[in-house]
Formats: sequence, C-alpha cells, structure tokens
Amino acid sequence: MAVSQPTILVTGGAGYIGSHVVKTLQRQGYGVLVLDNLVYGHRDVVENVLQADLVVGDICDRALLDRIFAIHDIAAVMHFAAYAYVGESIKDPVKYYRNNVTGTVNLLEAMVDADVKNLVFSSTCATYGVPSTVPITETLPQQPINPYGASKLMVERILADFDHAYDLKSVCFRYFNAAGADPDGQLGEDHTPETHLIPLVLQTALGSRESISIFGTDYPTADGTCIRDYIHVMDLAQAHILGIKHLLQGGQSEAFNLGNGNGFSVRQVIETAKQVTEKPIHVIEAERRPGDPPVLVGSHEKAKTLLGWRPQFSDLKEILSHAWVWHQKRHGVICPPVATEMTGGQRCPSSQVLVGR
Ligand code: UFG
Repeated sequence: MAVSQPTILVTGGAGYIGSHVVKTLQRQGYGVLVLDNLVYGHRDVVENVLQADLVVGDICDRALLDRIFAIHDIAAVMHFAAYAYVGESIKDPVKYYRNNVTGTVNLLEAMVDADVKNLVFSSTCATYGVPSTVPITETLPQQPINPYGASKLMVERILADFDHAYDLKSVCFRYFNAAGADPDGQLGEDHTPETHLIPLVLQTALGSRESISIFGTDYPTADGTCIRDYIHVMDLAQAHILGIKHLLQGGQSEAFNLGNGNGFSVRQVIETAKQVTEKPIHVIEAERRPGDPPVLVGSHEKAKTLLGWRPQFSDLKEILSHAWVWHQKRHGVICPPVATEMTGGQRCPSSQVLVGR
C-alpha cells in the first residue's frame, strides 16, 4: 500500500494489541516502524504477517532510540512496550518500574531531544484500583492496587509534566479487558505464559487444557464471579487511529477510557464460549485471585464525544467467535472452507483455509 500518511514508531508492535494497531495503521496508509525487544512479541507476526519494518531492541537503550529518531522521519510514537502481568508485578516490582517507568522516561527524553512531540500511550483500567462506582469515568480517582497499575499511572503523571515542561502532547488510553482477534484471522492473542480468561477458556474448549478455574465465586455480583468490560482489540486499534489524528491535528493531551460500557461475569464468558465453540468446557471453582477488583466497567462517553469513537464489535459472542477462529488456527485446526457455517453462528474467513504453524 502506498504510504501517504506520516510514519509512526510503534514500540511493542509485535505484541497482541500493538500488532492489531500496526495492521490498522497500515490499512489507513500510515508508515510504520516497529520497535520490539521480542521478549513477549512475535517476530514472525511483524515480518511475515504484517510485513512491517522491525527494529529488534529495547526502549531502555537510549543510543538505539537516538539512532532511530535520527534515521527515520517519525511524526509520532505509539507506545505499547511494557510488561503487563499483574501477578508478576506484585512479585517483581523492579522489573515493572524499570521497564514500564524508566524505559518510558528514556523514550520520552529521546523524543523531546529529537523534537518528536506526539505520543499515544497504552494505559490501563488497573490505574483505577477498586473503583467506588461503575461505570468508571476518567475523573474517578486513580488508586492502583498493584505495581503494574502504579507503573502505568506514574507514566500518565510523567506525561502531564512533559507536556507542561516540553510541550510533548499525549493521548493516554486506559484499556479495559482487551479481547477478540483480527476478524481476517491473521492476528490474535498469543501470550506465553497465558493468564487471561478468554484464551484460557478457549484452550480448554480445544482440549489443550483440562479445565478452567473460576477465581472466586463469592464476589458481590449477581452470580458471585468477577465482572469485566471486554473490548474488542480491533475497536482498541481504531481508537488509536483517532488518537493519533487528534494529536497530529494539534489536539491537547487527553486520557480516555476504552471499554464497551457493558460488564460480563466470568461465568457468562464461559457460558458464551460454550455456545460459540459447541464444546464442553470443564469448570473448577477456585479461590479468589489476589488483586482482582469485583467489577470493572468503563464509561467511554469521553472517547465518543471528543474522538468520535464507536466500538463496532461490542457483542461478546462476536468477540469470542473471532478469538475462537484464531485459537483454532494456532492449534492446527482446519476450518471449513469458504464461509461454511460453523458452530455458534461463527464463520471462517472466506478467503482462507486455516492451518496452524
Ligand atoms: N479469571 C478466572 N480464571 C482464570 C483467569 C481469569 O476466573 O483462569 C478471572 C479473573 O479473576 C478476572 C477475569 O477472569 O476476574 C478476567 O481476568 P483476566 O486475567 O483475563 O484479566 P484481568 O481483568 O485480570 O486483567 C486485565 C488486563 C490487565 C489489567 C487488568 C486490570 O489484562 O492488563 O485487567 O484489572 F491490568
């Protein structure tokens, strides 16, 4: 595709959300340069699927950042590179503060020195901690309950200071639970280790796990399990396009919640997964997982009003269907060809027969 739009440096572009954003940027004609240390990211996704330029390196490497900004004409940065395991952050906070905070300060300093003054930053609903009310609006107090959330909030505060001191403008997106996969079936969620509910449920449906544990059945919710706001990764990607446009058109620094505004319990996710996959999913009721707030649902009114963002894939069944196609592909299941009706109303992408690698 001919590049008619400016070039965006995407840190962490080999990861789950980053790779979907790279694909969306490319579709919109942006030039893309991916910087990823490949600790969790996937080289083959960037090189073979996205066919984007990849620099393998770390945001903590200041000399590398300086070289990138010297060689490439970068208009803005989208910053996904971060560690994002809540449990690990409690056990090893240094890893989180060093990478997520120190690494980001390194990046921001290099940007200022290179006169690149626009940044879209991946923040999280984990910055709110246990909210006093839902749906969560951007003005609710941010009181994270784990080092991961704290590291993201620190960066948000640092960004406010960089705007004031150096005129570096930023859009912070506070994601709720990113879910789903590229509807074309090319990209999806592939974490090692995997800790997230939806991939684990689908792995159970595929038979690659024996069971899924529900972490806590005594929460103050209708069915006793935690409620989350699952937002399709392609809707997140579209928000990033709007965020970068906002900045490149001279917009002010802003923070936005990105969620659907609807909550689903763990049990509802599992039941919907049974319908979508038409597979048995063995469930074990287990203890609560430390650090899980009972209910996290986000208001996206601000993103709707200021950016014109409208989630396109808010149906949980559709989110799970896209993820299911991806997970079958990852595990070598061959989908029926050419839009053959599959389980739960799900269709394979018409353009391909899916095989694992
Ligand atoms: N859950 C289970 N069993 C599992 C895995 C998860 O019951 O095997 C439950 C969790 O307890 C939680 C819900 O499913 O109630 C969703 O859990 P995920 O791990 O999928 O997602 P989280 O809500 O913990 O994490 C997300 C983001 C984080 C972010 C966090 C904020 O992935 O980056 O929200 O709370 F920090």
